[in-house]
Order: sequence, then structure tokens, then C-alpha cells
Amino acid sequence: MTWRDFWNGETTIYVSERHREIHYRRIAQDIVSILPDEDCRILDFGCGEALSAGLVAASCRSLVLCDAAETVRNKIRGRTRGLANTRVVSPEAVEAMPDGSFDLIVANSVIQYLSRSELEAWLRTWRRVLSPAGRLVLGDIVPRRVGPLVDAAALLKFSAEHGFLMAAAGGLVRTALSDYRRKRAQLGLLQLDEAEIIAIAQSQGLAASRSVQNLGHNPRRLTIIAQRMPHAAPEPMPVRERLPQAYNLMHSTA
Ligand SMILES: C[S@@+](CC[C@H](N)C(=O)[O-])C[C@H]1O[C@@H](n2cnc3c(N)ncnc32)[C@H](O)[C@@H]1O
Repeated sequence: MTWRDFWNGETTIYVSERHREIHYRRIAQDIVSILPDEDCRILDFGCGEALSAGLVAASCRSLVLCDAAETVRNKIRGRTRGLANTRVVSPEAVEAMPDGSFDLIVANSVIQYLSRSELEAWLRTWRRVLSPAGRLVLGDIVPRRVGPLVDAAALLKFSAEHGFLMAAAGGLVRTALSDYRRKRAQLGLLQLDEAEIIAIAQSQGLAASRSVQNLGHNPRRLTIIAQRMPHAAPEPMPVRERLPQAYNLMHSTA
């Protein structure tokens, strides 16, 4: 069994419906906070259920949602039918896209499920389909020293801030007994420190630097921003500071 099979099945990585909704809203808000402008063409690679894709779609020219899991693609096709500037595609369809198709590519919490050679191949493809000044954002990369306990602590803190602490505590017990934990132990995650992912990106023609903040809730994981060489590595970009009103919105529903 591979990670792709795992994501194609019924997964239980969110401790409750509230967690799932808040998680995807946070990711969408973080993506909106790094958009270069409203004319931007975005690829959200490994988008998962993309529950708040509407927030992103409303802030850009076009949004392509890509996920390897067919079951996930079918779900989000139904959910995004009303979004005229959004389409859902497979990774194979991205491989077939013309050069320079996107101004921003986001792959959040995805590269840990790739092998090193798959990551290198995707970096080449992402570089090709980026516009010359476009940016690639790799979010939620798991550094080598960040294991399940560190992730659990970050989830408990996030859940306490958003009113689902009890659900998170119960969910962590279920996760400890779950298929995800077994898969993580059996298949492993691609864990990379900052210097490693920057060097890998460079080896594929991308100049990269670390963002000040990670996308999403876990400050112990990394976000890397890259541009096609010969551009210099992008300035480290604070993710959250640019959208205070979006965060107020999120807290007001907590
Ligand atoms: C942890 S979820 C992240 C979802 C979303 N990006 C987020 O931040 O919540 C990982 C997603 O990556 C997708 N994925 C894993 N390997 C992939 C690949 N090679 N190509 C495209 N999607 C992939 C999985 O199907 C899953 O939906």
C-alpha cells in the first residue's frame, strides 16, 4: 500500500468536523495572504478537500485544484461546481500543462508524502509550469526532529484556541491507534530540514528561502518560497500579518 492508496480511502486525520473546517479556512486565508495580485493564476497542488477554495477563488483570476486521490477529486468537483474560475485536475493533467501556466503554486502539507526522486521530478515540473516571476510555496514541510509528539502538541494548542480541545484530545488517542499512525511508521514521511529542501530546490533550478511563518497552524514545520533561477531567492515572507481581518473573522466564529 502507498500513501496514494491511503489518501484514496476514508481518512480520519481531522479530529472533528469543526477541526476540518477551521483547518481548511486557515489554509485558504494563508494562501490569500500571499497572493501577488488578483490577476494571479494559482495551482493548489495536493489540495485535499479544499473546503474553503471559494475564498481563494474569489481573490484570483483562476484556481486549479490538483490532488492525486480520485475520491478527493470527485468530492471537490461537486463542491466547487459553482466556482466559474476553478477546475479540478489530476497530477497527470498538471504534467501535461504548458510552460508558464501559473503565477503561484502552493503545495501545502504534501511533499512529506513523496519520495525524494518524486519530489525532484515535481520540482522540475513546477518550475516549468511557473511563470518567469512566479512563486512556488512549499508549506508544512516536516523537519527531521519534528515527530508525532511535537505535531500533537501543536494540534492541542490550535484546538484550545479554537474551541475543540476535548475533540482534539480524543482524536489524538484515536490517531495513536489509527491507520495514519501505522502508515506513518510503515511508509515513513520525507522529513527535510531547511538547508536540505533549499539545496534540493536549487538543484532543480529554483532559488528558495524560508518563510517567516509556516502556512497553517504548526509553527514547528517549515514553509519554503522559491522562484525560478536566475531570480534571487525571494525575501522571507511573513504569512499572517497581512490579513488581520481574516483572522478576526476566524476567531469570531470560534
Ligand atoms: C495532508 S493532505 C494536505 C491537504 C491540503 N493541502 C492541506 O493543506 O490541508 C495531503 C494531500 O496531498 C495529496 N497528495 C499526496 N501525494 C500527492 C501527489 N503525488 N500528487 C498530488 N497530490 C498528492 C493527498 O491525496 C492529500 O489530499
